[in-house]
Amino acid sequence: MVKKKTCVFISGQGSNLKNLILRSRDKSFPIKISLIISSNNNAKGINYAKKFNIPYHIVNAKHRNPDNKILKNLKKFNISFICLAGYMKIISNKIVNKFEKKIINIHPSLLPKFKGLNTYTKVLKNCEKKTGCTVHYVNNKLDDGDIIIKKIFYINSNDNENTLKKKTQTMEYKAYPEAIIKIFRNR
Ligand code: GAR
Repeated sequence: MVKKKTCVFISGQGSNLKNLILRSRDKSFPIKISLIISSNNNAKGINYAKKFNIPYHIVNAKHRNPDNKILKNLKKFNISFICLAGYMKIISNKIVNKFEKKIINIHPSLLPKFKGLNTYTKVLKNCEKKTGCTVHYVNNKLDDGDIIIKKIFYINSNDNENTLKKKTQTMEYKAYPEAIIKIFRNR
């Protein structure tokens, strides 16, 4: 099996990135992480690029045309698939159009509910009975696009933002690899 050369975009801790790197070591897992793009210099996740010897590129917001730099890097490393993992910037139309149906994202809610930021606060404020995570294709709108996988759990009366985050992210580590396997099984 020829693995798809994949780029993971991050902005923060990179725990989903780490999980995908470890999963992609399986021979049968359909992707190889060939490049990491970070929206900022301080993202802790960059340490995984260093630790696992994966090339990385940091987006310089001051750069006149950061998209062109990103596209140049994607081309340089022959990237044909993109996973957003906590990337807190909007992906420009230019990139979305070039990689139509080849960019996926993970979001910590049951989309279409609670798009955008501060998801756990919104879930609790809305007195939801259940929550979870969603993996979806990326289109031109925020946290939109066809859904690939959703995973659900029930909220306890003593849950708070920290426990919700922990439970949701534990679920994400299962959902993201499963979504990737599902996509390439169907292609
Ligand atoms: C993840 O929980 C992901 O669902 C969320 O950011 C976190 C990143 O954690 N993404 C979004 O909210 C996107 N709208 P990580 O850096 O440890 O993988």
